[in-house]
Amino acid sequence: MRTCRTGCKKNPEKTVVAANDETVKIGFSMDTLKEERWLKDQALFKEAVEALGAEVEIVAANGDDALQITQAETLIQQGIDLLVIVPHNAEATAAIVHKAHSAGIKVIAYDRLIKNASIDLYVSFDNERVGELQAEAILELVPKGNYVYIGGATTDNNVHLIKKGVFNVLQPAIDQGDIKVVYDQWTEDWSPEKAFLNMTEALAANNNQIDAVIAANDATAGGVIQALAAQGLAGKIPVAGQDAELAAVQRIVGGTQTMTVYKPIQILTEQVASLAVRMAKGDTITTARAVNNGKVDVPSILLAPIPVTIDNLQDTVIKDGFHTQSDVYGQAAK
Ligand code: BGC
Repeated sequence: MRTCRTGCKKNPEKTVVAANDETVKIGFSMDTLKEERWLKDQALFKEAVEALGAEVEIVAANGDDALQITQAETLIQQGIDLLVIVPHNAEATAAIVHKAHSAGIKVIAYDRLIKNASIDLYVSFDNERVGELQAEAILELVPKGNYVYIGGATTDNNVHLIKKGVFNVLQPAIDQGDIKVVYDQWTEDWSPEKAFLNMTEALAANNNQIDAVIAANDATAGGVIQALAAQGLAGKIPVAGQDAELAAVQRIVGGTQTMTVYKPIQILTEQVASLAVRMAKGDTITTARAVNNGKVDVPSILLAPIPVTIDNLQDTVIKDGFHTQSDVYGQAAK
């Protein structure tokens, strides 16, 4: 659709007006496809955009800030109408927003906020609530004792919101002296290997006297549970995660992970696809909420996350088809 903005009307005799000239083209710049959830985001977003009769070009940067910027530049040069970004680095991606705006292209921050740039819309799940749900579930099981907090990658704005949510819930129990956070560490690039090393360190520093672990997502929870298993403690200490990844849901069934936070990704992809196409066509979007990103109050939509334990697994993740019964319980399951 942008082709005409770059001058095709000046040359009408050379312009073949194809039916798809007016097709909206969305660019989707992703941080990574390393975790299972991002593969779902990729597939479902493509499906949602195409269902609206628009096109999408998707790129992923493998956690490389410089690559994410170059890939986005290429999308801009290719004539997209709107750019959707999952930033690897909340600060570094501001450069992309400036470039897109200079080319007259609006930007939506997808799942993760972009800091210090005039982004046009932010759509995510309520990340502070994610942390609260994790802490509420674990505090109910372990009202007293030694806690470990394994955070995510500090380059991702979500981790600060999640941690805030966790401590909203834990702080009164900390103040009362009921619980003690004996280890609190971020995890570079959300790496399960780093989470394993951090948890191993936490166990060693506390002579294995740990009563509960809250990990920022299922990938890091996986690393934590491996470290617990190495000490014969897997399944004995409650662990929280986030994403309802298949491996995590299987660990919940197997008893080594206590809970996860399920975020129905299809709702996110459908919302963003529909808003992106509307914005690309020139609609102004108004939202009930706004989130300040250090520069502007960004119109925002924050969807509701859902806590999942063995008790509601069937009625949430499986009922929605996020994972099938046989994927979760094995081929023998009906
Ligand atoms: C997302 C999580 C994801 C994590 C690591 C966060 O920004 O909200 O769902 O697990 O990034 O990729």
